[in-house]
Amino acid sequence: MKFFIDTAQVEEIKKALELGILDGVTTNPTLVSQTGRGFKEVITEICSLVPGPVSAEVVSLDAQGMIREARELASWAPNIVVKIPITEEGLKAIKVLSQEGIKVNTTLIFQPIQALMAAKAGARYVSPFVGRLDDISSNGLQLVADIVQIFKNYGFTTEVIVASIRNPMHVVEAAKMGAHIATIPYAVISKLVKHPLTDLGIKRFLEDWEKVPDKPF
Ligand code: E4P
Repeated sequence: MKFFIDTAQVEEIKKALELGILDGVTTNPTLVSQTGRGFKEVITEICSLVPGPVSAEVVSLDAQGMIREARELASWAPNIVVKIPITEEGLKAIKVLSQEGIKVNTTLIFQPIQALMAAKAGARYVSPFVGRLDDISSNGLQLVADIVQIFKNYGFTTEVIVASIRNPMHVVEAAKMGAHIATIPYAVISKLVKHPLTDLGIKRFLEDWEKVPDKPF
């Protein structure tokens, strides 16, 4: 499973890179606004830091506007992936952009059929939003399972990015389902290796180490 970080904060991206597990980055207008920085400045800096795909979102609602913005975004760096919402206008844009070789991450997916439509139009990625469904008492992970199954049934190469992740179990369950990618906020990444028995085990080993005579270090 590939791990992306869901943030536009450069310091968080640097910390995730140091862990050696980072394969890419996703941003959205909300995440960029939280940095207080200019859109192009922050996206191009992220693209230069991370060798993998970096998603940046369009804001036009019509296909022509989306295509125009996507072409500009794609000119900023070779690893840009353009995020397009799943609408009828979005589908038209995905078709044109994928034929031009511009990679699209279709965002705001809440139904399996939306993912199938995006894949048929040529999207490179789809992003089902797990946490936002859980927030309204729906089953976000079931959405991921359904999309993975549908793509497998028909041999689509479109990759599933599990988005709107709220906790480590979202990542574990998505991995068991065979989702290709999880895009994870830094607060959740930092919980992924934590376990109280690991901390207790380290503490006990260090206490016992003190009893070992003639230590080399
Ligand atoms: C992913 O691409 C989205 O930007 C993100 O996961 C949305 O997460 P949220 O529901 O926590 O805002």
